Amino acid sequence: MKIFLLLVGLAANAAVTARGDAVIADVFARQVTSLNGKWNVIIDPYDTGYFDYRRQPYDAGGKVTGGYALDHQAKDKTELVEYNFDTSPTLNVPGDWNSQDAKLFYYEGSVWYRQKFDAQKSTPDHRLFIYFGAVNYEADVYLNGKKLGKHIGGFTPFAYEVTGLVKEKGNSLVVRVNNNRHAEGVPTVNTDWWNYGGLTRDVLLVETPATFISNFSTRLKAGTTNTIAVSVQLDGDEKAQTVSVRFPMLKIAAEMKADTNGLARFELTPASLALWSSESPTLTEVEISAGADLLKDRVGFRSIATSGTEVLLNGKKVFLRGICIHEENPLEGRRAWSEADARQLLGWAKELGCNFVRLAHYPHNEHMARVADELGIMCWEEIPVYWTIAWTNEATLANAKSQLDALIARDQNRASVIVWSVANETPVSEARTKFLKALVDEARSLDNSRLISAAMEVHSEPNHPDHKIVDDAFGEFTDLLSFNQYTGWYGSTPDAIDRVTWSIKYHKPVFISEFGADAKQGFHADALTRFSEEYQADVFRRTLPMLDKIPGWVGCTPWILCDFRSPRRPLPGIQDGWNRKGVVGQNGEKKMAFEVLKNFYADKAKETK
Ligand code: GCU
Repeated sequence: MKIFLLLVGLAANAAVTARGDAVIADVFARQVTSLNGKWNVIIDPYDTGYFDYRRQPYDAGGKVTGGYALDHQAKDKTELVEYNFDTSPTLNVPGDWNSQDAKLFYYEGSVWYRQKFDAQKSTPDHRLFIYFGAVNYEADVYLNGKKLGKHIGGFTPFAYEVTGLVKEKGNSLVVRVNNNRHAEGVPTVNTDWWNYGGLTRDVLLVETPATFISNFSTRLKAGTTNTIAVSVQLDGDEKAQTVSVRFPMLKIAAEMKADTNGLARFELTPASLALWSSESPTLTEVEISAGADLLKDRVGFRSIATSGTEVLLNGKKVFLRGICIHEENPLEGRRAWSEADARQLLGWAKELGCNFVRLAHYPHNEHMARVADELGIMCWEEIPVYWTIAWTNEATLANAKSQLDALIARDQNRASVIVWSVANETPVSEARTKFLKALVDEARSLDNSRLISAAMEVHSEPNHPDHKIVDDAFGEFTDLLSFNQYTGWYGSTPDAIDRVTWSIKYHKPVFISEFGADAKQGFHADALTRFSEEYQADVFRRTLPMLDKIPGWVGCTPWILCDFRSPRRPLPGIQDGWNRKGVVGQNGEKKMAFEVLKNFYADKAKETK
């Protein structure tokens, strides 16, 4: 058993992000009080709650002097107060508001949420944080009338320290949630998914020791098959604490003093180390302690790399039998957020014979990668740099970077995650490629152990529509050459698929991040009738063998596992506000294309064993 204790004072995994949010990783392993449940809400399309009764903005310069954030009740019959959370309606948290109240189905604007809670710390010198799994899209957070901060970005976690603010009894937590779309937003104003607003994931009160483990990373040391690299970041006044790392099942442990930045780095080489893979998704307990803090997690170790046009998992060529997934429970037409939702969606992927999923087009809830770890399903995770982003806006780039940082900080210990994707279908321009390159550099600076990609563009010459050209300048910077192609659905009928030829500029693994066609589950007709199951199945039947001829083809994630809500899809009687490209219908019923894909993957699994 060899243990190298490396003391490296690199500023990494900073516990507090540039936005001022605290990073609290591995939150489900911590001492938490759930604030989930029924929250009182005020629907506020004119942002009245931002002003006091004199119509003065109460939040000028961060001092709160009025408005809904004060959660005030009239003290007697003479006082004028025109709101009252106690007697207001409620919404369930976690959950989007659109699926909970027909009046909010299309609503885009502000909703003020209020929860009351008590807070008894188990130890006097402990610290308290309010943690949000995600809020779509903008959150202004107030505790007992004091502003904690504003968070922008609808799919990543954030937390605020409330140690000195919280009372033992009767705390009032008020959150203004606004899901308006913005040209400078990430995503921007146009998406092909539903703009679900609300406190869409867990809200937790997290208690930590005075100095605690804010984040840690564990991964296989590059170039080895049996050495584990661990880095641990402490947050608090006593940073130079002794940090210990234990892998009980691997019978190895180590300890060392963290540096003045609270960072400690280890390398541990157990006598034997079973690597994680789809066939054998081996996870093992890790216990990290520092002073009074002890964190446990279950992690796996594997390597992922490319070599020429191959993808290598643990040094062995792998074919990615995938499917795209939106974060939606189709049976209930709502944002997915729970472990049960994750097991439902990934269970269908498993039934398809998938060893890979593309979690489109934004960071999904944390349960997805954790369940994928267990099931042996590799994951592509993505930030919502989608379509026509404001490429030259510095604040937009900062927003995209902070969402990417938060995603990596949250999921960096998930063996299942093998790809960080920085974009989807973004029109080629110099400004766009510069913007995306900055995100690639950011991802690699935080985590050089995974593949970087994005769904790029394909084009063809007007007089040769069947000859597809892949020469996107951004392809120079990614590990996978990934792109979406919809021959047979957009701009052609399925017969065109058989005529497709390719010119691919880069000598890299070729990954098809989307293809597909709409079909209303249960609608049967001939294979040329749009929206029939037969048409969709025919597109799959023709596309898969066509792709199989591409030199360096390493896999695909057809669009998409399940039908999903989209305001862009109104066709009455067929779409009715749903994108019908799922191989599973809105009712959970499988379409003909499900079997076509499942059979292809079964053959592929045998061929690539
Ligand atoms: C695009 C896009 C998806 C969209 C799909 C479609 O490729 O990436 O978000 O839903 O095509 O048109 O159905």
